[in-house]
Amino acid sequence: MSDPIRIVEVGPRDGLQNEKTPIATETKLAFIAALAAAGIREVEATSFVSPKWIPQLADANDLWRQLPTGPLYSALVPNLAGLERALSVGVERMALFTAASDAFTERNIRMTVDQSLTVFAEVASRFRQAKPNGWIRGYVSTAFECPYAGRIPISQVIEVTGRLIDIGVNEVSIGDTIGVAAPIEVRGLTTALLREFPSERIAMHFHDTNGLAVANVVEAIDRGIRCFDASAGGLGGCPYAPGASGNLATEDLVYLLERSGWHTGIDLDELSRASLIVLEALGRPPAAKAQVAQLASASGTSPT
Ligand code: HMG
Ligand code: MG
Repeated sequence: MSDPIRIVEVGPRDGLQNEKTPIATETKLAFIAALAAAGIREVEATSFVSPKWIPQLADANDLWRQLPTGPLYSALVPNLAGLERALSVGVERMALFTAASDAFTERNIRMTVDQSLTVFAEVASRFRQAKPNGWIRGYVSTAFECPYAGRIPISQVIEVTGRLIDIGVNEVSIGDTIGVAAPIEVRGLTTALLREFPSERIAMHFHDTNGLAVANVVEAIDRGIRCFDASAGGLGGCPYAPGASGNLATEDLVYLLERSGWHTGIDLDELSRASLIVLEALGRPPAAKAQVAQLASASGTSPT
């Protein structure tokens, strides 16, 4: 348990990107400030994608300039146009995103996986010139199943992960984009990944569509994974992944880790307060189990 586990908070990006209700930039900033106050150290704050495709994150440049100091911030970048926008506001950590399935990338970023890796090689090289000490994450979405192409063979995930590492990413986050995987599949995939790549290179990104995200984290920790993405309040989903519901809730992840003896440095009460800022803006009640339980215990009622 001395081995730290990293949490990458993706709520301001993955949590909000699919929400139709526009959230004001000031509300996003208040959310991020509250996450920082709760002890969150890594935040994926926004995306420099086309505002026509993801209107909710059209304020990326404006938001980035006002981010509170404290956490390490990163943002999604899909192409050279996005990179130029990101560099213009001083982004030092970026995430490139592809998938294990052409059918998904063609809908999500209008490129095949091969085309995306060609574009990303150029984006990564230009980023390294501008930011020699910068940090790059790569995403492999639909790592277990694609909503369009079905089940994905492990070999395809290994191949795309290797190609991302070859173009110089520091870490690859493996996405169960539609939240369908069960622990036995996580065991198979993470065992295969850790045979090929050091564990510092691999993060897991679970969505909780079927309620198995926490069980999948337990399995991945057992195999040796030490970095997980999560979204405060369990918000999230990708507009190009029909059926994808919320991400693994950060509250559930923090509860699991703390209860199991892994120190996170994150205060669950403060985290729940941060989630309430966006939930209230969206007009939605808390749904993450650990948040509902925390709120019930704070108010002295039973969590029913
Ligand atoms: P496209 O329409 O093929 O782009 O979209 P284009 O190059 O033909 O350009 C069309 C217009 O967009 C042009 O403007 C460009 O200037 C503009 P116009 O001439 O029509 O006025 N444009 C941009 N504007 C701002 N920033 C940019 C940019 N690029 C072009 N970066 C594109 C291709 C990749 C841009 C588009 O498909 C896109 O933005 N996709 C993003 C989709 C997205 O964000 N999906 C969600 C994130 S992935 C995810 O959620 C999965 C993950 O969570 C892991 C998991 O769960 O598995 C990461
Ligand atoms: Mg996601």
